[in-house]
Amino acid sequence: MAKQILVTGGTGFIGSHTVVELQQAGYDVVIVDNLCNSKIETVDNIEKITGIRPQFECFDLTDVEKINAFFKKYTSIEAIIHFAALKAVGESVYKPLEYYRNNLNSLMNLLDCMKTYGVKNLVFSSSCTVYGQPDKLPVTENTPRKPAESPYGNTKAIAEDIMRDYAKANAEIGINCLALRYFNPIGAHPSALIGESPVGIPNNLVPYITQTAAGVREQLSIFGDDYNTPDGTCIRDFINVVDLAKAHVVAIDRLLSKKNKANYEYFNIGTGSGVSVMELVKAFEKSTGVKLNYKIVGRREGDIEKIWADTSLANNELGWKAEATIEDTLLFSWNWEKNCRGIK
Ligand code: NAD
Ligand code: UFG
Repeated sequence: MAKQILVTGGTGFIGSHTVVELQQAGYDVVIVDNLCNSKIETVDNIEKITGIRPQFECFDLTDVEKINAFFKKYTSIEAIIHFAALKAVGESVYKPLEYYRNNLNSLMNLLDCMKTYGVKNLVFSSSCTVYGQPDKLPVTENTPRKPAESPYGNTKAIAEDIMRDYAKANAEIGINCLALRYFNPIGAHPSALIGESPVGIPNNLVPYITQTAAGVREQLSIFGDDYNTPDGTCIRDFINVVDLAKAHVVAIDRLLSKKNKANYEYFNIGTGSGVSVMELVKAFEKSTGVKLNYKIVGRREGDIEKIWADTSLANNELGWKAEATIEDTLLFSWNWEKNCRGIK
């Protein structure tokens, strides 16, 4: 019998790609999502890619009654991947309680249920935001965390601490938590059936680029070219979303086969290379043949100047490595945007 995995936030950007990879690796997936930032059609599109329809339950994970009813109904779940969270950094500054309540209560409700219903393994979506602007690059897992720049970032740091303490307190009953610290996830599935669908004006670079290329936005603003980097624009570690999804399958395999070395572990998930905003724009133009209308404007408040991952631990310990090229990844983003807009 296929092992059953609960994927919270499974109709979202990273969750949907992970559901596909889990199904293709032979896992049976149940999605829980309240659709606050995703669409039910994603379930159909996952089925189109894999030929398997994941089970889907729509409710809010902060609802204690509903989450308990869920675990009473699904009694074979062996592990959870917890993606569900609110993730708009800017919005979190204005609505801190919504972010703390949603992101932390949903995690704590799941942890409570793990103990009550005997689910031993949890993989969690953390972020390189926990490093702030590091003093030394690239960042390893031993790089000290810095105070969060936003309530959103703080929910990730607090969530990591909650899992560490919870796993320690419940070591004797075999509870394991594993956090993946994502760098900058971009791209879409090669089928162009699933991808990133930001609501309203995108905050993130790649959706803004593809929407500008599609003519939905007039011009891309590049926030600052006076940083201490070779071309003056910020540097990030852009990780392909399918590669990122595969890291979750590896993490689940590790926990289910009891290969984890501690009952709380955390890994950097990036490519190991820094790419500047300007380099990314040029790579997009090269791989798609579409000229982008852009201008340099002032810096965006709160931006980190440069960050990229040392991925040795994930490479050596998880046996996972990012594979996609930045050009292919950007082409997949563009194909997804075109598909959404009906552009040939
Ligand atoms: P997303 O918004 O596309 O997906 C999150 C999903 O969770 C959405 O479908 C939303 O409807 C659902 N959700 C939110 N709160 C919920 C709740 N209380 N109950 C049930 N469902 C709920 O986001 P994503 O980009 O796929 O991110 C997934 C995870 O990865 C998040 O935890 C995010 O913080 C983290 N992360 C994302 C990035 C990034 O740049 N995309 C970077 C680092 C970490
Ligand atoms: N940028 C532009 N123009 C835009 C959008 C972004 O120049 O229209 C620049 C930003 O200034 C930054 C870079 O592109 O230098 C990347 O910006 P993103 O908003 O795409 O990504 P961030 O690195 O700021 O943050 C993202 C997620 C966070 C997460 C973090 C680390 O939004 O949630 O990656 O994983 F915490």
